Amino acid sequence: MESKKIAGERAADYVSDGMVVGLGTGSTVYWTLSRLGEKIRQGLSIRAVATSIQTEALAKKFGIALIPLSEVETIDLTIDGADEVDPEWNLIKGGGGALLREKIVADASKRLIIVADESKLVHSLGKFPLPVEVVRFGFEWTLRRLSGLGCVAKPRQSGDKPYLTDNGNFIVDCSFESIPRPRDLHRKINDIPGVIDNGLFIDRANLVIVGCLDGTVKELSSRKAK
Ligand code: 5RP
Repeated sequence: MESKKIAGERAADYVSDGMVVGLGTGSTVYWTLSRLGEKIRQGLSIRAVATSIQTEALAKKFGIALIPLSEVETIDLTIDGADEVDPEWNLIKGGGGALLREKIVADASKRLIIVADESKLVHSLGKFPLPVEVVRFGFEWTLRRLSGLGCVAKPRQSGDKPYLTDNGNFIVDCSFESIPRPRDLHRKINDIPGVIDNGLFIDRANLVIVGCLDGTVKELSSRKAK
């Protein structure tokens, strides 16, 4: 989709020589990776940390040098996609199942740029089912605890098998009517013992780059992120 492409490509302009860059996951970030590949062929020198096995493979294809997170002190900039972005730049992420690695990499980053097409901008989070990464042990109990928060909790499937994350865990997609208080919900979900993390990213984005249907790109800055 053209609006994803123009947003993803624009974010690559923020990457400069010598940076350690976090690489998000998804079809919008794909265009960032492809553009970074072009810039590397023209002489840009960076090292990158990938947030998923899928992104690792794409980075290799585009000639982007990867390093493990364990080998970096800090990440200068991470560029990632989102499933929803609210007016305060709180996010739902994890549609592609990579939310846990994405959140760890975002946490290790000085700046987080979100790339999205304009369909991702919402007044209030929650139309997109919130992905929650859950350990396999006691899964049925954890599912009941998630349902107890007032959502329809649906285990993610891959064909006729349970979907497994890159970390070997399950994903539960939780449909809430809306999420008026994302911070409270984030805490309540992560207080459930079988939950590893959920796809709410609160106060993390520093810049949101939006690709619009009319071919323009908007850059929206947040005042709230760290
Ligand atoms: C993966 C994610 C993605 O960033 C999110 O799903 C957006 O993907 P896309 O750019 O393909 O719409 O959070 O876990």
